[in-house]
Amino acid sequence: MVPDILDIETMPRGGPDASWLDRRLKTDRLEYLDRDDVDDLKRSVVRALDRGGRIFGTHKKFARIALNEVTDVPDPKVLELGSGHGGLSRALLKMHPTAHVTVTDIEPMSVAAIAAGDLGSHPRAVVREMDATRIDAPDGNYDLAVFAMSFHHLPPALAARVFAEGTRAADKLLIIDVPRPPSLPHILLVASNLPLLPVTPVAHDTVISSLRAYSRSALRALARHADPAITLELRGGVYRPAIVVARRARSGQ
Ligand SMILES: C[S@@+](CC[C@H](N)C(=O)[O-])C[C@H]1O[C@@H](n2cnc3c(N)ncnc32)[C@H](O)[C@@H]1O
Repeated sequence: MVPDILDIETMPRGGPDASWLDRRLKTDRLEYLDRDDVDDLKRSVVRALDRGGRIFGTHKKFARIALNEVTDVPDPKVLELGSGHGGLSRALLKMHPTAHVTVTDIEPMSVAAIAAGDLGSHPRAVVREMDATRIDAPDGNYDLAVFAMSFHHLPPALAARVFAEGTRAADKLLIIDVPRPPSLPHILLVASNLPLLPVTPVAHDTVISSLRAYSRSALRALARHADPAITLELRGGVYRPAIVVARRARSGQ
C-alpha cells in the first residue's frame, strides 16, 4: 500500500509518535562503516569494536542473549548478520559445543578478514558475504538469526526488510541495537562525545549511530510494516541496548 510505504520511508528514528525535539535528533551523515572511500578508517572502527567487545565482555554477553533464545534446540543453527569482526560468533561457538554458525556481513573486506582468521577454518562455522535485507537461505533454514549493533545502519524501508527476511529465514530474529534515550539525555550524550570526534574514528561512528538509533515505538512500527503477523518481545532500548526478539507464525503452526 503506497501511503504506508511512504510513511515508513519518512518515519523519524524516534518512531511515528516522536516529539518535535526528537525529530530533530537526526543526521544524514554516514558512519565510516557505511562509506566506500575510507577503507583504513573503516577497518580501524571494526578493530575498535572487536577490542571493545573483548575488553567489556559484550561479545560474550550478546552470545549469551542469543543462546538463551535457542535453549530448546539441541544443535542450533545460527546465522549472524552484520558480524563485522566475528566476535559474537566466536563467543557463541565457544559457549555452545554443538552450535553451527554462519558468520556474515555485507562488507567484503570484513568478510575476508573474518575468513582469514580462526573462524575461517572452524569446523562449525561458515563465513560468507550476506545482505541482511536479502538473506540468501530458504525459509526456516536457521533456528536463530542475530543482527547485533547494526540495525541502525539501515534506513526505515530497509530496516523493515530485515524484520521480513530475518523472520522468514530463521525461526527467531534477534536484534540487539544502540538505545535511543529521551531527547534531553540524548542531546547530552551526543554533546559529551563531540570533543572525542577528532581523537578517535569510533567516536565519529558512535555519535552518528546514536542519532540514527530507532526508538522502541519505531522498532514496533518497522516490524508491523514488514508483516503484521510478526510478534515482538522488546527489552531495553532507552538507556540500555534494545533487545528485540521477532518471530512470525509459519503456515501450519
Ligand atoms: C557497527 S558494526 C557492528 C559489528 C558487530 N556486529 C558488533 O556488534 O560489533 C555494523 C555492521 O553492520 C554491517 N552492515 C551494514 N549494513 C548491512 C546489511 N544490509 N547487511 C548486513 N550487514 C550490514 C556493516 O558492514 C558492519 O560490519
